[in-house]
Amino acid sequence: MDRKKRVFSGIQPTGIIHIGNYLGAIKRWIDLIPKYNCIFSIVDYHAITVMYDPKEFPNKILEAAKVLVASGIDPDKAILFVQSTVPEHTELQWILNSITPIGDLERMTQYKDKKQQNADNINAGLLTYPILMASDILLYKGEVVPVGEDQKQHLELTREIVRRFNKRFGDTFPEPQTLLGVAPRIKGLDGNAKMSKSLNNYIALVEEKDEIWNKLRVAVTDPARKRRTDPGNPDICNIFSFHKYFSSEEEIKKIDNGCRTAEIGCIDCKKILAENINRTITPIRERKRELDSRDNEIRDILYNGTEKAKSIAEKTMDEVRGKIGVKF
Ligand code: TYM
Repeated sequence: MDRKKRVFSGIQPTGIIHIGNYLGAIKRWIDLIPKYNCIFSIVDYHAITVMYDPKEFPNKILEAAKVLVASGIDPDKAILFVQSTVPEHTELQWILNSITPIGDLERMTQYKDKKQQNADNINAGLLTYPILMASDILLYKGEVVPVGEDQKQHLELTREIVRRFNKRFGDTFPEPQTLLGVAPRIKGLDGNAKMSKSLNNYIALVEEKDEIWNKLRVAVTDPARKRRTDPGNPDICNIFSFHKYFSSEEEIKKIDNGCRTAEIGCIDCKKILAENINRTITPIRERKRELDSRDNEIRDILYNGTEKAKSIAEKTMDEVRGKIGVKF
């Protein structure tokens, strides 16, 4: 009998997995694998709500799978699959659409942001996006959902959907718990917005050494520190906040003090960070490079994941169809 709790989480195949995704979610996914039954999905149907190139899309999905495997998602110990290969996701979404008030969706912060960012393509998918997320989780009766902070509101909505469904059709789904990552909200190199692919303010998880430096060199630090001789304030410096995740305690102390006393400048501070980020991600980048020539193996991993995911999804849908009265 399966007593381990079930974890579900997903990531969009946008072509780049960045260190925000890693620290906000993926690192936590990897930690959970030994203790839980983990299911991770590359959520391609979520990604089609914005403009994209259908010819490039299959490569982006494969690329995402490679980065996930390279970063430590062991497909023998966790299920890894592509969302669209289990059609029950969209089937359940239709059912949940019918119990979710539009007002709840219109209140979602991410919807409001995306409406602004995609003013020429405000499609219904942008609005119903969180219902597809709820379906992803509930199809597997997910109990723990490791995500970054930007997904918290969507998970609150998922819990409301669960309560509404269970009340109307009988106890079916557990209320999933949100588990935030080690760094739930990593800012981008502009020091302002959340790190994201679309804002081009990211360091990729497989970024090359020179590129890490090129990006850090021009990244925003304490805006009040204009000259090398000015003392800085690490508390408001975005670069300093990265050190917390990549540098040793001793280095952090030294940098904190050196910055406040103007003993070290922003460039020195960034050089240490570049070194440390590079050291942390080098093994991931190297494993990813090995996987680049193994597309068929990656496809097999994903097909295998689909089979396992499907067997759970089919059972849930059978139960759901019975509960809502569409099973003959
Ligand atoms: P996505 O693809 O935008 O991001 C994947 C994960 O990375 C986290 N994240 C961040 N964490 C910290 N700082 C950042 N700057 C940062 N940027 C992204 C996200 O919070 C997320 O955990 N809708 C989801 C994918 C999804 C999903 C699900 C998640 C679909 N179905 C079901 C959980 C459960 C998304 O677009 O994530």
